[in-house]
Amino acid sequence: MILDGHNPAAVAQAAQTLAAGDLLGLPTETVYGLAADAASDAAVAKIFAAKGRPSDHPLIVHVAPASTPDAPPAGVSHFAASVPDFAARLMRACWPGPLTLILPRRPEVGAATAGGQDSIGVRCPSHPVAQAVLRACAELGVMGVAAPSANQFGRVSPTTAEHVQGEFPEGLLVLDGGPCAVGIESTIVDCTRGAPVLLRPGAITRAEIEAACGQALRDKDAVAAPDPRASGTLVAHYAPSAKLRLMSTGELQQALDLLGDEAGPEPAVSIAIYTRTKLRSRSPKVLLQYMPDDAEAAARRLFADLRALDAQKVRLIWVETPPEDARWEGVLDRLSRAAAA
Ligand code: TXA
Ligand code: MG
Repeated sequence: MILDGHNPAAVAQAAQTLAAGDLLGLPTETVYGLAADAASDAAVAKIFAAKGRPSDHPLIVHVAPASTPDAPPAGVSHFAASVPDFAARLMRACWPGPLTLILPRRPEVGAATAGGQDSIGVRCPSHPVAQAVLRACAELGVMGVAAPSANQFGRVSPTTAEHVQGEFPEGLLVLDGGPCAVGIESTIVDCTRGAPVLLRPGAITRAEIEAACGQALRDKDAVAAPDPRASGTLVAHYAPSAKLRLMSTGELQQALDLLGDEAGPEPAVSIAIYTRTKLRSRSPKVLLQYMPDDAEAAARRLFADLRALDAQKVRLIWVETPPEDARWEGVLDRLSRAAAA
């Protein structure tokens, strides 16, 4: 059931649903989440079951914004044992917003959410509907809401309420907050290793993180500590049903020229081309779909476009490799994982 997230009665119902230990489809500025009370191991178990996600893959806890500016949100100290200085600086600069911080976990809370690890991922979202739900939850004593992306394990993340509805049985309550403004999942920075480590690129770039915390950002491969199990960082993830391949502009045009105007025995359209550059094709098998030439706009549409191409039952999606530019890192990361599936 989809309810309008801008309706206060729907927000109240959503908060009560979470407080009762049930699941909710929650809009955020990045992607829609499948939410549950982060402090309840039983509620969190329902997330893992509904997604078909292994229960040792940690989830992100979403917290309401602080009531006083510059103070960390109350939910942070509820779940995190400590906050290093550079992490506090990141919170002040980037929250509310699409940044998740991995912090040492309070041992007595959130074990199931953390997938058994002694750290916990925390994020304060900027989406007004998410904030309204998180504030209403806090009033009911729910200090944090665990929410992975609201899709079946390994599949493309949802950026509309309808996408969420399509992933889960009818009974799930989904709040509609409109299409997600960012469109790819949050940037994740591990703050448990003494220096900030980038675990997942997103809309907030490396340069922005370094400027905000005044420290160089390390790559996860360059740091000794073992990586926690983290599905968003598995090589093959975010996959549409069609096979996706990244190609250069030249390779793409060459492949299209080779196809010529031949129809073949296959169903009418079987190959989708997803490019920033305008290419030529005479083949009836080919569907040309354009990707915005701006990294933010491309991220906003990426998952919805991949879902739409899947719905047209194409077998192959040939994507023009994004430019080598820091602003495109998040989109390139998601496309590379989809191509590895
Ligand atoms: O934008 C987002 O982050 C969205 C929305 C709903 O907020 N959520 C999201 O959740 O992308 P999910 O479950 O699809 O990705 C969570 C990822 C994990 O796969 C893992 O990479 C990382 O967050 N993570 C969470 N807790 C962690 C921990 N304790 N240590 C290391 N990584 C962690
Ligand atoms: Mg996910």
